Amino acid sequence: MFLSAVAVVSAQSIQYDASRKVWLLNTRVSSYAMGIAPDGELQHLYWGGPLWRIEDVPAAKTRDDISSFDPHEMLEAEEFPGWGGKRFYETALKVTRADGNRDLVLHYESHKTDGDTLSITLKDINNDIEAVLEYRVFADAGIVSRRAIIRNKSNQAITVESAQSATWNLPPGDGYRLTYLSGRWAAETQVNREPIHEGMKVLESRLGHTGHNFNPWFAIDKGEANEEHGSVWFGALAWSGNWRISVEQTPYKQVRVTGGFNTFDFAYPLKPGEQLETPVFYGGYAANGFGEASRLLHGLELSSIEPHGSAARVRPVLYNSWEATEFDVNEAGQTALAQKAAKLGVELFVMDDGWFGKRNTDHAGLGDWVVNPQKFPTGLGGLIKSVNALGMDFGLWVEPEMVNPDSDLYRAHPDWVMNFPGRPRSELRNQLVLNMARDDVKEHIFEVLDKLVTTYTFRYFKWDMNRIFSEPGWPEVSADAQRELWVKYVWNYYEIMDRLRKNHPELEIESCSGGGGRIDLGVLRYVDEVWTSDNTEAFDRLQIQEGFSQAYAAKFMSAWVTDVPNTNGRSTPLRYRFLVAMQGALGVGSNLNKFTDGDTKLATQMVALYKRIRETVQFGSLYRLLSPRTNDTTANEYVSKDGKEAVVFAFRHSQQYNTEPPTIHPQGLEPRGVYQLELWDGTLLEKSSGAYLMENGIHVNLRGDFDSTAVLLHGQ
Ligand code: DGJ
Repeated sequence: MFLSAVAVVSAQSIQYDASRKVWLLNTRVSSYAMGIAPDGELQHLYWGGPLWRIEDVPAAKTRDDISSFDPHEMLEAEEFPGWGGKRFYETALKVTRADGNRDLVLHYESHKTDGDTLSITLKDINNDIEAVLEYRVFADAGIVSRRAIIRNKSNQAITVESAQSATWNLPPGDGYRLTYLSGRWAAETQVNREPIHEGMKVLESRLGHTGHNFNPWFAIDKGEANEEHGSVWFGALAWSGNWRISVEQTPYKQVRVTGGFNTFDFAYPLKPGEQLETPVFYGGYAANGFGEASRLLHGLELSSIEPHGSAARVRPVLYNSWEATEFDVNEAGQTALAQKAAKLGVELFVMDDGWFGKRNTDHAGLGDWVVNPQKFPTGLGGLIKSVNALGMDFGLWVEPEMVNPDSDLYRAHPDWVMNFPGRPRSELRNQLVLNMARDDVKEHIFEVLDKLVTTYTFRYFKWDMNRIFSEPGWPEVSADAQRELWVKYVWNYYEIMDRLRKNHPELEIESCSGGGGRIDLGVLRYVDEVWTSDNTEAFDRLQIQEGFSQAYAAKFMSAWVTDVPNTNGRSTPLRYRFLVAMQGALGVGSNLNKFTDGDTKLATQMVALYKRIRETVQFGSLYRLLSPRTNDTTANEYVSKDGKEAVVFAFRHSQQYNTEPPTIHPQGLEPRGVYQLELWDGTLLEKSSGAYLMENGIHVNLRGDFDSTAVLLHGQ
């Protein structure tokens, strides 16, 4: 009886105790609570492991000032503080009214619940500005999402200067540690871990896109969590433009994470009656370490973010011609590569840059999305037909937001690029950025892409974006509306993909931005996979992929096998390169014309192996067993949803002193299940129970430099 009472209460994802004005949001693995203080402030009350009794959560209270320098507002954990009154930490909303009044004090007004969504309306004490806080509970995924809708309810214009999606308050105290992802082109998603001290750390992009430098994800622990143990609070912001996440420890031992639109160069005007919606900020709590935090996010992405949801097909094995041919594409060359790719077992053949306009180098052609008649005298139809006849789908590279000054599009519409009149138009990779915030530019891009898919009926776009913004001017609109560009550009990017997908339900899209410059939970609503990094060097990739996996599921992680020597001049064996790439959505980017018979044989074997395990890799649970940052052996394990299949990948960097590699302890197996072990080459090993394998570990005989293996575990 006692237990069933627990089950009944925790089944409700949103509970409200009207007498004490407390809400409790429950997921499978966590709870989150907030309440209204006597003065009307919406205060944060709890974020941690699952609770079943709302009465346990103390009601919000208004504290006393400590001194005239430490007002009570600075001590309280507000859910969505406005900048006004006596608040001088990072606030979630800051506005200026047309008359210059900038004070904003948000108090509870009303709330409503609709299924798993709770909307709490806060209003300024003058009743003129409203913030609707939307909380959505993904109970099975163990995630709560938050966003805010800011409304101008007054009769004068306002300018929103900061619109954050959420403030996340950690349980009071200090000793916290922040984990975040940073990097640069060809070295994305590097894991950083550092103590949080008093003051503020800002992770952000001011670049127009998500950025290679930081990724909008954080994890915070108490300084003692590891992959499988310890409390971890984490979050990921769904926005592919300028974003900002600040992590702040106040002098009152309160750690707060605030994230949303970047406040840098931000000014969004709202006329009376208008509103601004912030991006969604997903957050979660994991009791079992960074590994569980990642698995919760991966589960959310696969169940609730990925555009095809649970109907998403397993990612096909892809071939991409870029590293083999660069701009030198033509029908004969691509057909020859396609024939070789098909023999390896490739299922999706993607032609990269170089097929359009005068695109023989990166100096010309962007913007002119017409097939180059010298390279493809009869259009793309012939190549696509050959690719389809070989049993493969066809995919096409585009970079629709960009224009080379040497292009017909730029000559016709020089005003379409973002610019400040009379100022330089700075080129990067010889290209300028179209102002996709403009509706005419958005329509043009949509029509170009829609026409390509309609004309040629293919399956896949690789949508690239190869530079950051500069001179983000929009001279055609009034000065006060110009900075809307930062936001509207991204909305229009999402809208184009949404419309394309609706018009062509089979169409798949890859998000690429010179590698991993546009990877976030916003773009994942519209794309099937993302290009992880232009760095395809397998050893470097182990760390890039480790970072990627903190926040994003393997299914989205495009990973190619390419030729050696690669970046850094390093050469690793073909088997090693395949096994590294098989931990995501496998692709091949090698110049197949240079493959030896031995390479072809091994590649065919590896592609066949991948097809056997990819369901487990792409949709299973990831356990990062040994990190490339701390070991000479890296090991990752993927366990299928039903727990019956698993695969352990292991890579040794450099054996020294004839030492044994570490024993690898798989996780997530059924302790009472019996598993048949099989090596990557089909050799059957012993049978062992899950309990024995997890306790005793697997001994892999990795020797020398860049040795690698994969062990398949089949539940009997
Ligand atoms: C950058 C991408 O990341 C590469 O994969 C390739 O598509 C090039 N652009 C083509 O210009």
